[in-house]
Amino acid sequence: MEKILEDIRVLDLTHAWFGPYCTMLFAGLGAEVIKIEPPWGALGRMGPGAMVQGASTSFYALNNNKKDLAINLKSPEGLEIFKNLVKKSDIVIQNFLPGTMERMGLGYDVLKELNSKIIYAALSGFGQTGPYKSRPSFAPIAESMSGHIFQTGESADPDGPPLGMAGAYGDLGPALWAASSILAALRYRDKTGKGQMLDVAQADCMVSLNTVAVTSYNMLGMSMREYREKYPQARGGIGGITKTKDGYIYIAGFRPRAVEKMKLQLGIEELTSDIIKELVSDKTNAAALEYLLGFGVPVAEIYSVKELVKDTHLIDREMFTEVEHPKAGSIKVTNFPVKFSETPGEIHSATPLLGQHNEEILSTILGYSTEQIQKLEKQGVITADRSA
Ligand SMILES: CC(C)(COP(=O)(O)OP(=O)(O)OC[C@H]1O[C@@H](n2cnc3c(N)ncnc32)[C@H](O)[C@@H]1OP(=O)(O)O)[C@@H](O)C(=O)NCCC(=O)NCCS
Repeated sequence: MEKILEDIRVLDLTHAWFGPYCTMLFAGLGAEVIKIEPPWGALGRMGPGAMVQGASTSFYALNNNKKDLAINLKSPEGLEIFKNLVKKSDIVIQNFLPGTMERMGLGYDVLKELNSKIIYAALSGFGQTGPYKSRPSFAPIAESMSGHIFQTGESADPDGPPLGMAGAYGDLGPALWAASSILAALRYRDKTGKGQMLDVAQADCMVSLNTVAVTSYNMLGMSMREYREKYPQARGGIGGITKTKDGYIYIAGFRPRAVEKMKLQLGIEELTSDIIKELVSDKTNAAALEYLLGFGVPVAEIYSVKELVKDTHLIDREMFTEVEHPKAGSIKVTNFPVKFSETPGEIHSATPLLGQHNEEILSTILGYSTEQIQKLEKQGVITADRSA
């Protein structure tokens, strides 16, 4: 079946979550994504997460569908191979510190000379400009600076300390901004023949993801806590995290027509959090859901990952799929989440081994002979894990 990005080749230098999650989106839409790792393995291959057969579990989650070329870009031969690949590619994505690509001789000025159509996305913590540009970053750094960690704490306990967010949204949110912007740049390139550089900063994207708090503050001079107190229909209004007989559910009771229906049927003037929580306190999760959904109240069980992987709706939506890894065996991963009617996304292969596709890439894209490839391996320019 046709894949929407099947004619697109991405050179993927990304090494930690923010980058690999972005490039996995391209791989899921059918692009040829070539993961380029140093011979000693990318940062993300080593962690975080438990190591299974030589790679971290997070690495298995973030690199499905990709090909792998393990190459030393600090050797002249490695650099030449990369530059030749740039001439035959559409997109280059990296998430090193600003300056790292330039030190390797691979800044945008060099890349665009090699291929004026190339779209180059430089992903970083704070961007390529500004006073903080040289600061290293991981998800919680961007989550802290963009107000999310403060607000998460305030949301859990208005008088308590800030609270870290689960889920690395400081990586995964900006990754989606990067991917959608690169796709827009691809459309521009297709119309004009011109490539361009995208400077995508985790901090900027996370501030954008906090747009409601920022805009509300600018308009009303209120924090999110003050805002919620004054406007209880906002998140955290009626309901919230609610204890039932056998667990927890989340009641997002700010759907006006559902609230009105409950008030009418219960014969009450006002629906408060205390009332709605009391109504479900002696019900099981399943019964509480059935009861509240009867009024059209948005409600969900608060799942652990152990529970979510068993959910019949998510299974029905094919949100989990199995891939076969040469060393780790069969791995159940999350599937491509968006359903296209004409050109479906797909997860078809597991995270590659280090250098798994060296031969394929060098011979089919660049026309290297077997002897040349063997020589490069002997010289340590490329390397491959053949332990499977
Ligand atoms: C994540 C981060 C803190 C890691 O720091 P780091 O390991 O020092 O990473 P850098 O980006 O500076 O450097 C990578 C090094 O590997 C080298 N390298 C990478 N790929 C290589 C290859 N194929 N061959 C040879 N060397 C390679 C680089 O040249 C660089 O070496 P240098 O510092 O000697 O120049 C940093 O990359 C960063 O802040 N990135 C931007 C924000 C981000 O995306 N964070 C991750 C979110 S999960």
